[in-house]
Order: sequence, then structure tokens, then C-alpha cells
Amino acid sequence: MSGVAPIRKAVFPVAGLGTRFLPATKSIPKEMLPIVDKPLIQYAVEEAVEAGIETLVFVISEKKQAILDYFDTDAELQAHLLAQGKKDLHARICNIIPRNVTTTYVIQEEALGLGHAVWCARAVVGKEPFAVLLADDLIRSPGTGCLKQMVSEYHATGIGSIGVEEIPPSMTDRYGIVSVLQDATGRNRIREIVEKPAPAVAPSNLGVVGRYILPGEIFSTLESVRAGVGGEIQLTDAIAVQLASHPLLAHTFDGIRYDCGSRQGFIRATVDYALEDKELRHDLLSHFSLLNDSKN
Ligand code: G1P
Repeated sequence: MSGVAPIRKAVFPVAGLGTRFLPATKSIPKEMLPIVDKPLIQYAVEEAVEAGIETLVFVISEKKQAILDYFDTDAELQAHLLAQGKKDLHARICNIIPRNVTTTYVIQEEALGLGHAVWCARAVVGKEPFAVLLADDLIRSPGTGCLKQMVSEYHATGIGSIGVEEIPPSMTDRYGIVSVLQDATGRNRIREIVEKPAPAVAPSNLGVVGRYILPGEIFSTLESVRAGVGGEIQLTDAIAVQLASHPLLAHTFDGIRYDCGSRQGFIRATVDYALEDKELRHDLLSHFSLLNDSKN
């Protein structure tokens, strides 16, 4: 569709406490926990850059200095690696963020919820449609990344979207849940969205994963939304308020999503990414086979 505003900015709310990974997250932000050798936040950044994002907006708390340090240039380390002839490693630390991509940091002073974190980015994002990525939802796609899939759909339709997948019906109280209606083009429009409903009242078992393309108007709605589930300002609630005026699609992505906010999801992701790594695969498989033999 011609004439739709491009999606140039992505917001990464990274100010959460990460209590499920304590004690590690006492001093390391959960987004800095590595899957094999890259922190979760880098996977999300790479997905955003692949989707054409030009400005990365990190919403951090004052305790998240490690994230700033990670994306900052480390001239000393670069010189050290070059002096040791470690060109591959040098390239890896130099290319964390491509040159044409800008990073900005916004401080969320109090942990008042995801909706509040996104609202903190309002001055940087302005009125344009924008993306939100939650780094603890790691999505491994066989081809095109999840956000790029959503951006393409946005360009085709002019309508934003939310990443969704079917979740076990007993787990609706851990997710935003949507119900959908098929439109004339066969796409699923979100009819209703509710934050963490109990299974008995959930409108479906389509769970929201941490990928959104939202209109800039969400900021003024977030301004007036009251605290919801958990006493927090919920992004879901603001989306629900403006669905009638700003329709959104439910995007069923091509790929596997790992809930890296949970220990199980984190370990599964680690195993699957390690199995994709040429150096690790063989060793890991023989380790599993030994474990299996010792059980029999
Ligand atoms: C947030 C959202 C929720 C969404 C989830 C995806 O919840 O509020 O709607 O389903 O992310 O990971 P949180 O996991 O931060 O409690």
C-alpha cells in the first residue's frame, strides 16, 4: 500500500526486574543473559535491524548500565583483539549495531508496567507508527524474521499488528489474549484483547508474544489508561481502548518463539541455538547420547 508511514523506530522496554532469574539478575539485566554467546537483547536488535528499523529506543531503569555499556564502543577491547590478531572477534564486537542505526536511551524511573515503559518513549517516537519488541520473547525464524514479516504486512495493508501464537488454554493468565475476526482479505483482525484473563473467561487461546506495530496515537491513550492487572499500566489495556478507531491485525508468525523470561524457555533456546552452532553441535549431541545411555 503506497503512502503509509514507514516503521523507522523500535522501542525495547528493558527496565523490568527479571525476578525469575534471581540471583543472576541481581546484577545482570535479564536482557543481557546470553543464549550461547549473544545476549537476548542483541537477538531482538538484529531482528529489528533486519526489519529496516533505523532508531532503537531502549527504555531502561537506572540499574541497567550494563545495556548502555554493551552497545557502547569499547576502543580498548577493540585494540586488544586487533593486537592479538583476533579479527573475527573484533568484527563481532564492532558490528553489534550497524552504522546507519541510531540508539537512544530513555529512563523509566519507576517500574509501573509495560504500558508505562512504552509511554516513556513518547518524546523520541513522536506521532509515527512504531515497533515494540520484548527481548525475552526470542523468535527464531527459518527465513524472514518475525518483525520483518509484520512490517511487510503493514506495508501491504496500512494496518499495524501484534504477534500471536496459540498457547495452552490453561495458560491464558500469563499472556495478553486476543480474539479475532477474519476480514475480507482473509487476514485476522483483532476483535478483543485482554491482559492475562483466567482460562474460564479468556476469549480464546491466542496469546500475544512480544512483537507489536502500533500507531503513534497509543501514547495519548496510555496517558489516560488506569492501572490494570498486577496494579501495572498495561499496554494491552491501551490497545483495547483504541481498537475501534485503530484496527490491528493478529500476526501468526513463521518461526519458533522461546519464552526466555522463563527458565524452561531459556534452556530450550540455549539448546536449540547451540545445536545450530557448527562448533557446538557435535559435542552437544554426543553429550546427550551419553546422558541417554546412562539412563538405560
Ligand atoms: C507482556 C504483555 C503480555 C504479553 C507478554 C508476552 O507480559 O503484557 O500481554 O502476552 O508480555 O511475552 P509480561 O510477560 O511482561 O508479564
